[in-house]
Amino acid sequence: MCGIVGYVGRKRAYPILIKGLKRLEYRGYDSAGVAMIGDDGGLNVYKSKGKVADLETHCEEKDTTGTTGIAHTRWATHGEPNSANAHPHYSASGRLALIHNGIIENYVTLKENLMKRDIAFRSDTDSEVLVQLIEYIMLSNQLDLFQAMQVALHQVIGAYAIAVLDREHPDTIVCARQSSPLVVGLGADGEYFLASDASPIAEYTDRVVYLNDGDIAVLQLGKRLNVVSLSGERQHPKVRQIDVTLGQLEKGGYPFFMLKEIFEQPQCIRDCMRGRINVEGDRITLSAVIDYREALVAARRIIIVACGTSWHAALIGKQLIESLCRIPVEVEYASEFRYRNPVIQPDDVVIAISQSGETADTLAAVDLARGAGALVMGVCNAIGASIPRLTQTGVYIHVGPEIGVASTKAFTGQVAVLAMLALCIAKERQTISDELYKSMVRELTLIPEKMERTLQASEHIEKMASIFTYARNCLYLGRGYNYPVALEGALKLKEISYIHAEGYPAAEMKHGPIALIDSEMPVFVIATRDKLYEKVVSNVQEVRARGGRVTALITEGDEQIRHLADHVIELPDTIDCFQPLIASIPLQLLAYHIAVCKGKDVDRPRNLAKSVTVE
Ligand code: F6R
Repeated sequence: MCGIVGYVGRKRAYPILIKGLKRLEYRGYDSAGVAMIGDDGGLNVYKSKGKVADLETHCEEKDTTGTTGIAHTRWATHGEPNSANAHPHYSASGRLALIHNGIIENYVTLKENLMKRDIAFRSDTDSEVLVQLIEYIMLSNQLDLFQAMQVALHQVIGAYAIAVLDREHPDTIVCARQSSPLVVGLGADGEYFLASDASPIAEYTDRVVYLNDGDIAVLQLGKRLNVVSLSGERQHPKVRQIDVTLGQLEKGGYPFFMLKEIFEQPQCIRDCMRGRINVEGDRITLSAVIDYREALVAARRIIIVACGTSWHAALIGKQLIESLCRIPVEVEYASEFRYRNPVIQPDDVVIAISQSGETADTLAAVDLARGAGALVMGVCNAIGASIPRLTQTGVYIHVGPEIGVASTKAFTGQVAVLAMLALCIAKERQTISDELYKSMVRELTLIPEKMERTLQASEHIEKMASIFTYARNCLYLGRGYNYPVALEGALKLKEISYIHAEGYPAAEMKHGPIALIDSEMPVFVIATRDKLYEKVVSNVQEVRARGGRVTALITEGDEQIRHLADHVIELPDTIDCFQPLIASIPLQLLAYHIAVCKGKDVDRPRNLAKSVTVE
């Protein structure tokens, strides 16, 4: 999704803005632009379709002086990706420049009203309406930018994070947020950084302020950060510490972030468990469960809301919680849940899973659940994001920034957190024996080492990958805990290699998808030695009988399936419910290597965005 960067200080803004945009490239975008108030006092806006590198080329001969600027990467919603629709947008007189993330729902009405006043528009975007409206209010009422924004934003319906420059005030950025994240970095010497997430800021300062919905902030060089609510009340923003390191934002020798992040998983799961599982490896402590013990023990139902990969993790969470805690769990797509008037009771617990903590639909589901009086818990990765701030409690997955658009380490982090959560709640509800609890916790501590062994298959998988680049469709099959793994494996392949793929519960295959099977259709089966193993073997036989080509993920040493499959990938054994932590890794690697073989841009797949901040 769109990205925002801003800088006010004593250094040259342009290199900081360009570097910041590059840090945000992972979010997905199709055009980019930058605006600076130059040394001669002019407001210069440069934009181009394509990558940030194209913008740099476009700027080569231009005036890029100035110590105050804003920059943007755009992911098109209204209007095609081209330089006219790219941000920043000038106001009619050229005095203001604005960048915007989000969607303005009433932009058609606002635009019609402004056009009646002879204001000409240069783009097809909803965003340009904002800068024209702000300037119109500013000039017709003789207000300053900050005052004009306060008036204008009352007329705006929708989601926005905006940053605006005024040529007349070259040391200031005014910004505002509503349902779209915005972070202010407090630098040295009275300088300010601004961004849609902390990644462009982290190398300059670890002191940040996360703006809240309805906040308007004035970032003026050398002056105290001034934050006021839309209704005019002065806010007292909390300065927080971010602990993102530069190494986490760079590739560290890997060709793509996605591969780096796949290989980071053992360490990520260790980090996720650190301080939560005791050194003896037999007890889990989660402060969310201690703080909300009563509500969790008494919960009549748990509803998990999420999107995409996080929704797949939720399906695993459902099985874990139902089997260990004996609480009914419903898993909902946040986008459906928010609009279908769901029944939510005060004794329901709602868990919102979101890597970014900013997904618009999941945020709306959180709002809805809170409004209905349920306890809402976030399971997020991005520290200080909107969902962790809007939920009463939560558990961070602590896997570090995930830059590759296709989620990998966040998925396994989410599953690890859900496993710990289920075990903790089960212990409190006394639905698990002491012996089983301890043995499961011990097994969980062994997972990182088993992940390391699994990663050794990368070369084998790389060699295998070229066989599948011809495929137009693939089927992924699994049962029980491995059914969501099949869904996730298929999603990974779709996202980065653009090969159509479907995940199915293996037994469902004969109710339809079996018609598709022939020698052209690769079938990936997660067939580890679990409770449903024999049944999966039968499903593999069914595929074979139709001439299907099977690649099976099997438990180390399993000879039975080896004879039935064309290719096998061996996995270390673990208990059924932790198998997704292991089995998802070869499927991530497979998707990665197939996409690389096909020459795809693995970290920035077409049309996709890392953080889906629009519904
Ligand atoms: C897939 C992927 C997406 C996200 C989804 C939700 O690889 O990353 O499907 O899982 O957009 O995002 P979060 O977890 O940030 O709410």
